[in-house]
Amino acid sequence: MNMQNDVIKTIHFRRSVFQANFTDKEVSKEDLYTILQSANAAPTHKRTQPWRFVIFRKDGLKRLGKELATIYKTITPADKYNPAVEENMEKKATMSNAAIAIIVNYSNEVPEWEELAATACSVQNMWLASSSLGIGGYWATPGLINHLGTFLKLHENQKCIGIFYLGHHESEAREPVRSSIEEKIRWEE
Ligand SMILES: Cc1cc2nc3c(=O)[nH]c(=O)nc-3n(C[C@H](O)[C@H](O)[C@H](O)COP(=O)(O)O)c2cc1C
Repeated sequence: MNMQNDVIKTIHFRRSVFQANFTDKEVSKEDLYTILQSANAAPTHKRTQPWRFVIFRKDGLKRLGKELATIYKTITPADKYNPAVEENMEKKATMSNAAIAIIVNYSNEVPEWEELAATACSVQNMWLASSSLGIGGYWATPGLINHLGTFLKLHENQKCIGIFYLGHHESEAREPVRSSIEEKIRWEE
């Protein structure tokens, strides 16, 4: 692949980086603003700008972790309950340096899938911006997010579609693991 410029390089080497690789270094509010402004530059039909974010840092991460653990305990049937999973749910938040709840705000002005697609575009912008700043992260979509409405103070027309966990990290740059683009395209010339 021809790495012609920094944008293409950032896209190519953006990876999911998980809590095990996060360091304790603080993700600054300034960097978070840069990441969120990048999300806000995503394309959006009729400029509905459906993405909403709740940013957790410091004690906010502890509250998020406790909430995820409580939800897991509450909704998991007794025969499926595993205390290690409950602990892990909490750790995902507390081992991160910041977490961003990703919310779609449905406006009724365009089909719902377009609002979802635009919000996904904003997440990719966020991911690329983080990566370019040396900050790792990934989009997590556990089933528990469907129970976060009250905690996140969501309105009726809003839905949480994941949590973006962030942290500085020391992992090596990795190539994407993908089957060839040739399997996914057809030229008509
Ligand atoms: C919509 C979406 C949901 C995802 N949900 C999860 C998740 O719940 N847990 C997880 O570990 N990774 C999740 N991921 C990250 C993918 O696992 C990751 O992007 C994929 O393995 C490719 O790796 P890469 O991002 O390093 O290229 C999600 C990614 C997307 C786009």
